[in-house]
Amino acid sequence: MTSVLQVEDLRVWVAGSGKPVLVVDGVDLDIQAGKVLGLAGESGSGKSISAQSLIGILGEKFVYEGDIALEGRAIGHGGESFKNVRGREISMIFQDPLNSLHPQIQVGKQLIEHAIRFGQSRSEAISRAKELLREVRIPDADRAMKSYPHQFSGGMRQRIAIAMALVGDPKVLIADEPTTALDVTVQAGVLRLIKRLCRERDLGVMIITHDLGVMDAMADDLTIMYAGRVVESGCAQDVLRAPRHPYTQQLVASLPMGPSRDGGKARSMQAIKGEPATPRNRPPGCAFNPRCPWAEDRCTEIVPPLEDRGGGRESACLVDPFVPVEAVRKAEAR
Ligand SMILES: Nc1ncnc2c1ncn2[C@@H]1O[C@H](COP(=O)(O)OP(=O)(O)OP(=O)(O)O)[C@@H](O)[C@H]1O
Ligand code: SF4
Ligand SMILES: [Mg+2]
Repeated sequence: MTSVLQVEDLRVWVAGSGKPVLVVDGVDLDIQAGKVLGLAGESGSGKSISAQSLIGILGEKFVYEGDIALEGRAIGHGGESFKNVRGREISMIFQDPLNSLHPQIQVGKQLIEHAIRFGQSRSEAISRAKELLREVRIPDADRAMKSYPHQFSGGMRQRIAIAMALVGDPKVLIADEPTTALDVTVQAGVLRLIKRLCRERDLGVMIITHDLGVMDAMADDLTIMYAGRVVESGCAQDVLRAPRHPYTQQLVASLPMGPSRDGGKARSMQAIKGEPATPRNRPPGCAFNPRCPWAEDRCTEIVPPLEDRGGGRESACLVDPFVPVEAVRKAEAR
């Protein structure tokens, strides 16, 4: 396994009236080449802010801290080396492809200008643009080059946004709810495309979605966030089939794995009892304690550290109630 992007202790504050609010609190992420890392958690848990901080597109009211390394090379935050990689070696697609595409400029012109910005000659940029449209399976690339984004369906527009994201030949692609706005049948095609690009280009992919069915199909590894912190991470199959953290356990139990038209958002918002913690109103200790059936007194005092549970699993729970039976037997036999 080769780590392509490693993030350690990412913290993001947002300024407002009053004291800055810590919206991402000590997040670690590890994106592997040729693999898909899923990032899940309820609305407001800090998924998008974490992702956007990795390509530096948050506005001035956000302040970040943390270590980011691309292929082992520290790229800092906001400095020259960071500016050189963002959008090029680390790129991003969004729920709305029009975040990456100008609605009134022909698709070909946008791709060509983007490639020229990254140092290609005009003729190189033209052939690169056509090549990328073919790679994302846009039919009739010559015609597509002369068309405007609104002339394509939502699924095709997302494919073009993916082509834009590939112009700099990135090592990492971050996809924030890339198919939430699409019909289920179209979703599947776009997800297959992302997975194919991941494998063929040895691309490190991070995907954010509320839809655990999509996660199940897409993710190799999975990180679960709650109130700006990571509560669990590990191999996606293990995390989804045998959650270790009480929050993950409830999230998985509340979300049927089948597809949903809104990416599972409505289901997840009403599914777990109690109010989700917000960064402005994060309970002391373990942020999940007011909703957790396993909570003890110490859970209101101590922020649980993310601990190694073996087999590539990590979870942040003081009680750790879902220890697999074999692990208990082994410990007792010792
Ligand atoms: N522009 C902003 N200004 C102030 N606070 C913000 C801003 N964007 C996000 N936040 C706050 O940061 C926290 C994390 O937001 P974020 O958008 O990362 O959540 P998310 O996990 O992506 O949620 P969702 O699943 O709804 O997309 C939220 O509590 C939100 O209120
Ligand atoms: S630390 Fe306590 S409150 Fe938090 S998930 Fe574990 S048992 Fe529940
Ligand atoms: Mg989001």
